[in-house]
Formats: sequence, structure tokens, C-alpha cells
Amino acid sequence: MKVLNFGSLNLDYVYSVPHIVKPGETMTSNKLEVFPGGKGLNQSIALARAGMDVYQAGAIGEDGKDLLQVCKENNVNTDFIRISPLRTGNAIIQVDEEGQNSIILFPGANRDQNKEFIDHVIDNFSAGDVIVLQNEINLIDYIIDRAYSKGMIIVLNPSPYDDKIKNCDLSKVDYFLMNEIEGEMITGESDPDEILSYMLTKYPNSKVVLTLGKMGSVYADKSKKCKQGIYPVKAVDTTAAGDTFTGYFLRYVFIGESVEKALDMASLASSIAVSRKGASVSIPYNDELLNIQM
Ligand code: RIB
Repeated sequence: MKVLNFGSLNLDYVYSVPHIVKPGETMTSNKLEVFPGGKGLNQSIALARAGMDVYQAGAIGEDGKDLLQVCKENNVNTDFIRISPLRTGNAIIQVDEEGQNSIILFPGANRDQNKEFIDHVIDNFSAGDVIVLQNEINLIDYIIDRAYSKGMIIVLNPSPYDDKIKNCDLSKVDYFLMNEIEGEMITGESDPDEILSYMLTKYPNSKVVLTLGKMGSVYADKSKKCKQGIYPVKAVDTTAAGDTFTGYFLRYVFIGESVEKALDMASLASSIAVSRKGASVSIPYNDELLNIQM
């Protein structure tokens, strides 16, 4: 089983601030750091650090070539990362003293995907391989259709939620991993049980993981439901906590562990990520988790 992650690669400009800036306010930040990021890249690194072979597909500009090196250092295959004439996607991230963040995205090359390249990438994968998608690139509706025709297992993290998700045939998705805000935007329901119930009524063959912040996470499919709490830590930076959760959950499920074990390891991994600064740099290695559990 090969894992293809078709998603974003960003340069994250992280400003440490006393509080998230208010409308009309001008504030001087304490520090600026630049980290590799993007939900696609973060999830590829989480999958790889968890122990999975992963291929990242997507696009960067000439200004983002360092991200290729970041992938290579993390054993993420870069054969399907294209150099676009556009500049690399970036994120302006404020992180406050409680570790909460606020993010503005500039899509840049992430929205420069084209059908010819998508066809070429998917042609290199087979039925039973996994494709992981988020919503920071264009043409995810087309990618879902192509991956489905190929017989790939489709994982969708509909984040950040916007109207592009409405263009997707979500009945083709095998796994949804989303937070409660995304869940509410897709279903119109705010109660976690109602979100899950709506999803499983509409997409009865799918498996749904809903993350609930400090309330942990819940998994449901048509025959099973289980919950997982969090591992409490002092939050330093919540950026990429969800991406870490996604990578670890998928890895443990795809090596045949129980959903309960996968949720537990995902929860532990994301708590470690929250206790560290930065996006992909904050993602732990599987060995760190195993050492904690011993
Ligand atoms: O999920 C965190 C990521 O969202 C950041 O790395 C940033 O690039 C944005 O894509």
C-alpha cells in the first residue's frame, strides 16, 4: 500500500504576539520565525514520522525549494512536487501567549494544480493505495474523481472549509477527518453526535473522525463508535496539531491496529506537537511516543 498526499506546501511566517491582533489594532510582535508548513506537507511529515512511506504531490515556486529538502530529510518522496511559476504558498500565523493561533493563507502555487499533472500523478498509483487530501489546493473535486476511478482509498480532511468542498462528490470519500467547525459547516449541525449521525446517514460507507479540541475526539462508522480523551499539556503552539493527529491516526489504522489504538496514538502525538513551536517541526517521531508509553 502506497500513500499519496496531494496537498499544500507553505512557508509559515510565525509571529509571537501577546494576543491575537484585534480589528483596527497595530501591534509589534516579539519574534518572527519561518517554518515549513502547509496542511499537506505537515500531514506528509506526520505520516512519515509515524512510520509510513509517503509521496507528497503538489506545487511550490522557485522561492520554496528548501521545502524539497525538508521533505527529503523526513523521508517524504518528492517525485510529484512540481515547480510552478507562481510563488510558494505562505501563511501569516500569529501565536499568542496561550499557544492559540490565527492564520491567514496565501495559496500561491498551491492553487496552480492542473488536470494533466493530476492525471500523471494518479497514473503512478494503484487500486488499494491511499490518497490523503486537504482543502488548500485547487481541483480537489477532480482529484477525488480520478482517485475514485482508480480504486484508491480516499481520505479527506476538509480544512480549511470553503465552497470548494461543495463541488466534491463526498460519497466517494472513505475517511473524513475533521474538526467540529468543519463538521458543522458540512452538516449544518453543531452537536458532535448529530454531526456524526448526519455524516453516516448521508455517507453510510464512510468512516468519520471528529476532533473536539479539549474534549478529545470521536470515531464513528456504521457499526462502531468510540471516543478518545486528550493528553493534557501546556500549549505552546497549536499549529499542526490537527495535521499530526491525522498522520498518526491514518498510520496506525493502515498498519491494521484498532481504531481505539489509532485514536490514542494520534491524541498523544498531537499533544506533543502542541507543546512545541512551529508546524511540521513540532511533529514527534513514533519512537518518542513509544518511549512515553513504556
Ligand atoms: O494546519 C496548519 C497549517 O495550516 C500551517 O502550517 C499553515 O501553513 C496552514 O496551512
